[in-house]
Amino acid sequence: MRVPRSRVTIPSDLRVVGVAIPAAGSGVRMGGRRKPFLTLGGRPLLAHTLRPFLDHPQVTCLVVALSPADMADAPAWLRALDARIRLVVGGETRRDSVHAAVEALDPSVNWVLVHDAARPLVTRSIIDRCIDVPGGEEGVVAAWPIGDTLKEVSSDRTVLGTPDRSRLWGAQTPQAFPRDRLVAAYRKAIDEDFRATDDAEVYGRFGGATRVVEGSPWNLKVTHPEDLVVAEHLCAHPGVLEGRG
Ligand code: CTP
Ligand code: MG
Repeated sequence: MRVPRSRVTIPSDLRVVGVAIPAAGSGVRMGGRRKPFLTLGGRPLLAHTLRPFLDHPQVTCLVVALSPADMADAPAWLRALDARIRLVVGGETRRDSVHAAVEALDPSVNWVLVHDAARPLVTRSIIDRCIDVPGGEEGVVAAWPIGDTLKEVSSDRTVLGTPDRSRLWGAQTPQAFPRDRLVAAYRKAIDEDFRATDDAEVYGRFGGATRVVEGSPWNLKVTHPEDLVVAEHLCAHPGVLEGRG
């Protein structure tokens, strides 16, 4: 008879939540402007991103990974914002920045949300869906079903195929994981130089299974200058973000 593996599961209301925020990118697609410090609705974009996490009662620690230049000259508002915030230097890639932030979380944290600094429109409801999930070993990815028909395209722009859209979701952040498994997965990814575009890919390779929860069509990543125009508009209509607009 096979002996089931022992499982340590943490009920969602007992989770001690830490947040790792990669904010060390260089904003190449934004014309070289560092996105966390752009102004959105009259405030720094990063201040919007942090607010719903700071307002969540289960969040006990937030680590923001900054570029070396921003770390050397971090703005006073960020240093003064909240005692739960720690600042660390990020790395060359998003993976390296997430790794640095996750390693710096307080030891008491047992459930980690990784969230891009560049997604300032995240809401309390999305955060709740990433925390209030049963089980202890599975990761969670905020995601949204793909609306457009997709085309696989060759380098000369010939259409090669039309993947079945019904099974495809666009991955967003937050992405949430049990702390110990996430730390172990990131250490292995660094050791093996496994390149991944999000945390769920790292976790899927070295940590365990992952499932999606609903993100939001408004939880956009500010990537190109046009995204900032949309984000400004949505910021001015906060009811829309929580589905009340
Ligand atoms: N990021 C990071 N460290 C890196 C690269 C990216 O912390 N070395 C962060 C970014 O600051 C952002 C998030 O990862 O919050 C998602 O990355 P992306 O949207 O690609 O931002 P940038 O890398 O800054 O933009 P670009 O790729 O256009 O240069
Ligand atoms: Mg990038």
